[in-house]
Parts: sequence; structure tokens; C-alpha cells
Amino acid sequence: MKILAFESSCDDTCASVVDENRGELKILSNIVSSQTDIHAEYGGVVPEIAGRAHASVISGITYRALSKAEITIRDIDLIGVTNRPGLIGSLLVGVNFAKSIAFSNKIPLVPVHHIKGHVAANYFSDIKPEPPFIALVASGGHTSLLKVDSYTGFRTIGATRDDAIGECFDKIARVMGIPYPGGAEIDRLASFGERDAFSFPSAAIHDDSLDFSFSGLKTYAINLIHRLEQSKTDIPRSDISASLTFSIIESIEKKLEKAFKKYPCDRFVIAGGVSANTHIRKALAGYCTEKGIDFFAPDKRLCGDNAAMIGAQAFYEYGTGVCGRTDLNAFPSEEL
Ligand code: KG4
Ligand code: ZN
Repeated sequence: MKILAFESSCDDTCASVVDENRGELKILSNIVSSQTDIHAEYGGVVPEIAGRAHASVISGITYRALSKAEITIRDIDLIGVTNRPGLIGSLLVGVNFAKSIAFSNKIPLVPVHHIKGHVAANYFSDIKPEPPFIALVASGGHTSLLKVDSYTGFRTIGATRDDAIGECFDKIARVMGIPYPGGAEIDRLASFGERDAFSFPSAAIHDDSLDFSFSGLKTYAINLIHRLEQSKTDIPRSDISASLTFSIIESIEKKLEKAFKKYPCDRFVIAGGVSANTHIRKALAGYCTEKGIDFFAPDKRLCGDNAAMIGAQAFYEYGTGVCGRTDLNAFPSEEL
């Protein structure tokens, strides 16, 4: 089965062709047109500009995805599209484009939840996680702990009550003069810093829940940077990055301890843009080894938004009978 998939929930316009053969998934093309440069001067994504940019590139991106896969629309058996959650103007571009191609060519269309898509990025690895497992999806817009009972059955067991981890990285980076999105640069800087240089507050909420709060950590970091600026001290960007990352890792591990007690299983999966973070990957892999849990992370190129992950999840959703109709719509926020 050949799947054409689209992702346009935020600021990346993505189209991909995924080949499925006896349950094995392979990427034939995965085109991402990033709007980072367009939004950089505003320090974050501007929704209306994002929607317009998606509209201007989505046709060309689709043409490139099909050409790279060396097929035409007539070879496509299934179309997948992210229809929730995300920026509504951005989602609507992808959903309507996918609908017009699907219904004019009589191809089944499958709506996909963006977070489920991120988890599905792991199914392209040589050794794939098989549900049940616990997953952490951490990106610019989401930080959720999930119990994944089957390829399509997800439960949110914990989440951030305010900022997402990626958002926290990006905002702190911005105050340190690092252009948006600064998460990857904080990752690089942290390699040269001292993780004990500063003591950041924990983001693990002190209760029995599996929830996080990153806003305290963010405010603490921003106040620290402003204080250093006022005292005309050079900003120790590497030390701040290392201490911040270490505090985030500790917070995640604290909640993982509780999560695996509450929902016993022996697999842990990370996904989302932040799962590309070298230090977080390494620390969580080490944590899992210590606890006898199998650890899975997507290929770094598949951590950020892309359409291959949407194609993979569309395959599993279609297998359970999910199929969009002509009135398929987009939703800015929706539970899993
Ligand atoms: O999944 P994604 O591409 O988009 C959303 O769904 O939000 O994630 C983007 C986020 C940004 O906040 C970016 O700074 C962060 O992922 N990010 C990283 C790294 N690479 C991207 N954060 C930490 N370390 C990285 N290496
Ligand atoms: Zn995402």
C-alpha cells in the first residue's frame, strides 16, 4: 500500500510518500518546507502568516514528494492528513488540500491526530516499539505522557499545565539572544556547560499526578539572565543551557518513576521535536537501561514535524476503519 500524507499543523508544510508492505513501513519521500526564516523576525510563529505560507507551497511540495518517490497520484492507495490539534488556519490548508486530492481521485482519506503521528515516527526504526508502552511527546506545542495501549489506542496520563518543553527552551533561548527556535542551539551549548552551575526549580509538579509545569523554570531562567545582564556579567549561555537541560531531565525522570509504577510496562518511547535533544536522549536511554525498560527514540530527522509520521499513523488508523468523509474538518485542540 502506498500512502500520501500531509502535515501542516504549525509552521512546516510537509508531504511524504510512505510504502507499507506486510506491516513494514518505508519512507519513499519526506519533503519538509520550513517557515522558520519567515517567523524568525517575530520570535515565534504568526498564525496568519503560517496559513498563507502553507497555501503557497503545498502544491509544489506534493509534486516533489510524488516525483521523489517516482510515482504518480494514480499509485496512491491512501491519503493521511493531520486534522488536529494545531493552528486552525494552518490545519485547514492541509485538510482541504488533502480532501480535494482524495475525493477527486477516489482515494480513502484518513484524519490523523498530530501527537499520535509524532509517536508513529518510531515505527520507521529497525527495532520498533510494539504497544503497549509509555510515551513522552515533547515539542514546541505539546508535552504529554501517554499510555499507548495499541497502535491507535492512546490515553493521556500526564501533561504540562502551562508551557511545553520546546516552548520553554525557545523562550529562554530568545532571552539569551538565540534566534527562534532555539531548542537545537541550547542542545549544542549544553555540551560545553556545567550542569551544576545553576539550580533550576523542578518542573515535576509535587503531587501524585504525572503532570508538569515548565513556566516556573522558564521564569526562573529569564529572571536569572536579566539579573546577570543588569550586573553587566557575561551571560554564561552554556552553563545555563546545561543546568536547564539537566533540570528538565530530572523532572521527566521523577514523573517516569511514578508513571511506570502506575502503568506497569517495559517499553518507553520518546517523540516530538525535543526528542532530538542529545542530552535528553542519552539520559533517558540510561535511565531506562537502569530500570530494565526498553528505550525507543525516532531517527533524529523524524523528531520534528514531518508527514512520514502522519502516513505511518494513517496506516494504523485505516486498519481500524477510520475514514474521513467529505465533511472532514480541522480542530485546533482535541483530546487524544
Ligand atoms: O515537533 P516540532 O517540530 O513542532 C511542534 O509540534 O511543536 O517541535 C519543535 C520544537 C521547538 O520548540 C524546537 O526548539 C524543539 O522542538 N527542538 C529541540 C531540539 N530540536 C528541536 N529542543 C531541544 N533540543 C533539540 N535538539
Ligand atoms: Zn509536532
